[in-house]
Amino acid sequence: MKRDFLAVSDYTSADIQNMLDLAVQLKKEYNQGKNKPILQGKTMAMIFQKPSLRTRVSFDMAMRHLGGDALYLSPAEIGLGQRESIADVSRVLSGYVDVIMARVFDHAHILELAKWCSIPVINGLSDYNHPCQAMADALTIQEEFGSLKGLHVTYIGDGNNVAVSLMHVCAQLGAHYTLATPEGYDVDPKALEIGQKLAASTGSTITALRDPHAAVKNAHVIYTDTWTSMGQEAESKKRELVFPPYQVNEALVAEADKKAIVLHCLPAHRGQEITDAVADGSHSRLFPQAHNRLHAQKAVVATILGAA
Ligand code: CP
Ligand code: NVA
Repeated sequence: MKRDFLAVSDYTSADIQNMLDLAVQLKKEYNQGKNKPILQGKTMAMIFQKPSLRTRVSFDMAMRHLGGDALYLSPAEIGLGQRESIADVSRVLSGYVDVIMARVFDHAHILELAKWCSIPVINGLSDYNHPCQAMADALTIQEEFGSLKGLHVTYIGDGNNVAVSLMHVCAQLGAHYTLATPEGYDVDPKALEIGQKLAASTGSTITALRDPHAAVKNAHVIYTDTWTSMGQEAESKKRELVFPPYQVNEALVAEADKKAIVLHCLPAHRGQEITDAVADGSHSRLFPQAHNRLHAQKAVVATILGAA
């Protein structure tokens, strides 16, 4: 049966840890020279309904480094579900390439794509989640602290797609996850329920708070993301009035564990959810985190294509 990568919660904790172990190995191999061509002759179609820097470039480079190739399909090219039905796009592409990575607005569209494709589909961000980001986040945290088990990871800001995948990967790997979100901007309740089940299975906890100060107390990792995600631009003015108390600034970071690291999936809106001083300061791991997209995704693609 083909294996899609649509959500980290579709995988077991052991599967996720195995992919992270592979990412560590592939990163080491790459940094020592170059990767073995384990994806020789394999091709990826990259469908984008929204802009991207990291996802586009890191997947393209991941395929090339492993001996494969990737094709970028911009929002203007396919018109997913508009020029052509998702079912038809899926069945056509299934005959041309070995794997699809897609960034969509509506999570239902990636599920639909996966349903009709006879090849694996990877979720490169939907309105619900961002599993590839979560793999890079977990890799970055693991590099810093050795393991996620027992750590306190705090997410501050909008309970969005990134907050959901981070919650699930933390729960799967045994990290305690605390969210501080303003009223009306909580994570999806069904996603929270999934997270709580996963957390129960690893002995970790998920705590949803309103107060960012209470949330960062004892935090080993402080994570934030944009206040306005792609597709929500019409709400940005309203959100700019709600979110300022949730800014990750030096004063807030000083309330966390002394060795705390700060993560952000990027792109950052400096002066809004994160200040320059924090983004460029000693606690920041923003750029190693972005670079880890490359290594984590190599592991995901190699795993689902059975090449590892
Ligand atoms: N973090 C992330 O997914 O970045 P891009 O939107 O640039 O791909
Ligand atoms: N939450 C952001 C993440 C971008 C990588 C968005 O969906 O726009």
